[in-house]
Amino acid sequence: MKFVVLILLASIGCVNGEMNFYFYFHCLVLYPGQQKMMKIFGKVLDVDLDEVTIGLEPVSNFKCVDDCFQTDGCILVFMNSGGKCFSFDFNSTKKLTVVETKREEGLMVAFKTRFLLDQCPAYDDMDLLVTVGEDPIPWIKNGNMYTFEKCVRDWKMYTRENGVTVCMQTFKEEIYSLVNAIKRCDELGGYKLTGVQSKEELQWIFDRRTSTWHKNSGFWINAKRLEEYSRMNDTHFNITDGYTTLDQEFYRKFADLSGSNIGIIEDCLLVCNAAPGFLINDIQCSDYTYAKGFVCGYQLV
Ligand SMILES: *[C@@H]1O[C@H](CO)[C@@H](O)[C@H](O)[C@H]1NC(C)=O
Ligand SMILES: *[C@@H]1O[C@H](CO)[C@@H](O)[C@H](O)[C@H]1NC(C)=O
Ligand SMILES: *[C@@H]1O[C@H](CO)[C@@H](O)[C@H](O)[C@H]1NC(C)=O
Repeated sequence: MKFVVLILLASIGCVNGEMNFYFYFHCLVLYPGQQKMMKIFGKVLDVDLDEVTIGLEPVSNFKCVDDCFQTDGCILVFMNSGGKCFSFDFNSTKKLTVVETKREEGLMVAFKTRFLLDQCPAYDDMDLLVTVGEDPIPWIKNGNMYTFEKCVRDWKMYTRENGVTVCMQTFKEEIYSLVNAIKRCDELGGYKLTGVQSKEELQWIFDRRTSTWHKNSGFWINAKRLEEYSRMNDTHFNITDGYTTLDQEFYRKFADLSGSNIGIIEDCLLVCNAAPGFLINDIQCSDYTYAKGFVCGYQLV
């Protein structure tokens, strides 16, 4: 099937009190109100624009913004009056701070964001979201400053009920013991083998399994039954990532626990398709050849 998509180019200038800003958007007629660029007078504090653009040719303001708009991974561009333009890529950005500046300074920042309105909203009411990755991430506005914080690369971010924000990523490698899974996460960048705290996190990990894997195959997570409860059908787990707190009900609910199987002690946990209704199985802590990966994490602070 073939269909025609019209692309409109437009910009809306907005003046709300002191602040001048405007939207610039390509509007796919089939999906109105999608991705846009919002420009403000401002600068990114995390970079020295002159330094990072050494050797780059000046470009027009339009091209600076448009190139970012057209590039999938671009989340934001920063430009000065000399036409020096620097773009920030989603995967290589972890944290940014943008501060508003006076028009006379000639500095511009354009955010890629998604806005329902095609008209000028009140500036103070705008909730800017980075909509480049899998999940929207908010810019936190504080006075005349915006900050944005995300996980490394395309790692998944979860904010837990206790307010702890965790970043996690699955890795597919045949690692047959808990000890080596912990070691691999450390080797990959000082990360922890992550503990799991919510159904949402667990489901995400479960869904990262390869569809052709055996039902018993899955990812190591951080948990080992305490010595005194070893080989028992029990939920007293030791979680050593430093940010996950033990919620025993959680394991009772989602893990198919036994403690042992035909004489083999099963004190560790694997996210897999073990039994109907369960997303975790307790397994032996070493020489477990169904283990096909592990989940690393760290606390975002
Ligand atoms: C970020 O990196 C991941 C994995 O390397 C890749 O699949 C994804 O397309 C990248 N995302 C963007 C927005 O560049
Ligand atoms: C949990 O495991 C760590 C690392 O193996 C160990 O140092 C710690 O003593 C254990 N905690 C308990 C309560 O057994
Ligand atoms: C483990 O304990 C739970 C809760 O008491 C029970 O439902 C389950 O059948 C037990 N599993 C085994 C293998 O005994």
